[in-house]
Amino acid sequence: MKNVLFIASEAVPFIKTGGLADVVGSLPKYFNKDEFDVRVMIPKYTCIPWEYRKDMVYKTHFYIDLAWRSQYVGVFELQYNGITFYFIDNEFYFSGPKPYSWIHEDIEKFAFFSKAALSAIPVLGFKPDIIHCHDWQTGLIPVYLKERFSQGEFYQGIKSIITIHNLKFQGIWDIKKVKDITGLPDSYFTPDKLEAYNDANYLKGGIVYADRVTTVSATYAEEIKTPFYGEHLDGLMNARANCLSGIVNGIDYDVYNPETDKSLAANYNQVTFRKEKWKNKVALQKELGLTEDKGKFMIGIVSRLTDQKGFDLVAYVMDQICAEDVQLVVLGTGDEKYENMFRHYEWKYNDRVSANIYYSEDMSHKVYAACDAFLMPSLFEPCGLSQLMSLRYGTVPIVRETGGLKDTVEPYNEYESTGTGFSFANYNAHEMLGIINYAKSVYYNHKREWNKIVDRGMKADFSWDNSARKYEELYREL
Ligand code: ADP
Ligand code: GLC
Repeated sequence: MKNVLFIASEAVPFIKTGGLADVVGSLPKYFNKDEFDVRVMIPKYTCIPWEYRKDMVYKTHFYIDLAWRSQYVGVFELQYNGITFYFIDNEFYFSGPKPYSWIHEDIEKFAFFSKAALSAIPVLGFKPDIIHCHDWQTGLIPVYLKERFSQGEFYQGIKSIITIHNLKFQGIWDIKKVKDITGLPDSYFTPDKLEAYNDANYLKGGIVYADRVTTVSATYAEEIKTPFYGEHLDGLMNARANCLSGIVNGIDYDVYNPETDKSLAANYNQVTFRKEKWKNKVALQKELGLTEDKGKFMIGIVSRLTDQKGFDLVAYVMDQICAEDVQLVVLGTGDEKYENMFRHYEWKYNDRVSANIYYSEDMSHKVYAACDAFLMPSLFEPCGLSQLMSLRYGTVPIVRETGGLKDTVEPYNEYESTGTGFSFANYNAHEMLGIINYAKSVYYNHKREWNKIVDRGMKADFSWDNSARKYEELYREL
């Protein structure tokens, strides 16, 4: 049996701000249980809903040093859907309404978490062969593991992997401050280690010190070796190219299943979608106060409203997108400029635009099911899960050909009758508008073709099964 410990800053169903939580919370279920025991460790945030916190079982507590600070570490455990989750408790760091706050606070919070997580392992009764870290919040773990822990007998031989879910976020702060927080010696803050452009960089530390580096799609693994996508670390990504691979994300097919989903007005599957799916559209039109019309082309967006997701393109041609024969349903939160942009268009085109500026799992499922098309014109996209959810719900994705979007959405080819969605290459608003209008014309004028696109999309397999096998291979290699 091989033991693997995922360490991350979020995991469903406990705490989620984006796709990272979906991956960390669902992937462990899909490993071959005869060969791999995969467990998960996250912070015990006080904003985790009480329904989960009340069942967490206290295991032990101790104190660690964080440079000159001495800090309490509580360790809790909870079994959920057959997976063991561990929670690191410290209310000084993990209270507040959200898991993340200002970067200078997060820098200390996740230095604490990284050291506390490593220190807690010997008391778990579970010795990992591999520690699998995710994103900058856990970037210090491979560093600490090599720098101090591996001298202890218990930690010898433990390998580490870091998965980059988004290279944009690196955990960057002033070297002096980071030295003071982490207690790492001067020799660690050089350009071949944690230093980058005169600052300390947690993710860089993780990438330099981990035994293997992965990211969440094959295309993104290539893109981040170039200056455009490399977020100033493309040199490092090239230097680590031998240890870098891309494994595409899946989604939890038990949670995202139109046949059993309790959020939907009408359940359906690949066979019944022609007769049933539209009922979800009409139910949503009713709920959101849009014109009730089962034949209207409805485009959905469920997203963080940030520049990454391509909303400057959408803003540029919003009037043209919101033509009379289209309805647009948006669910998202993020940058105020985009929140207000969508609110404005809801006011302007009240019968056909609905701006839902909040976060709701339940509403997201309704949107995935109700819409005909799903718009995701990202500037960059390490993988993207929303387009996979759309495919699963028979909602045709319209995407830009970047990162995981390129790897998971096959563009429609009208001559060969192939493809699962629509895509465009250049980051250009009119190119996007052209492809939206093309999709719309297929929907209105070639309905049988449209339904075949839906059919192929629903048939495509983006469950975790394939990708979990690839992670298993990587673990075996290590
Ligand atoms: P990212 O992690 O970059 O935000 P992904 O596509 O990988 O993008 O994952 C986004 C996840 O967050 C999906 O599960 C999506 O449904 C969910 N999501 C985003 N915004 C909202 C929202 N406002 N309400 C509910 N779910 C949301
Ligand atoms: C990040 C990326 C997204 C990816 C998710 C899970 O948030 O932005 O593309 O799907 O992580 O890996």
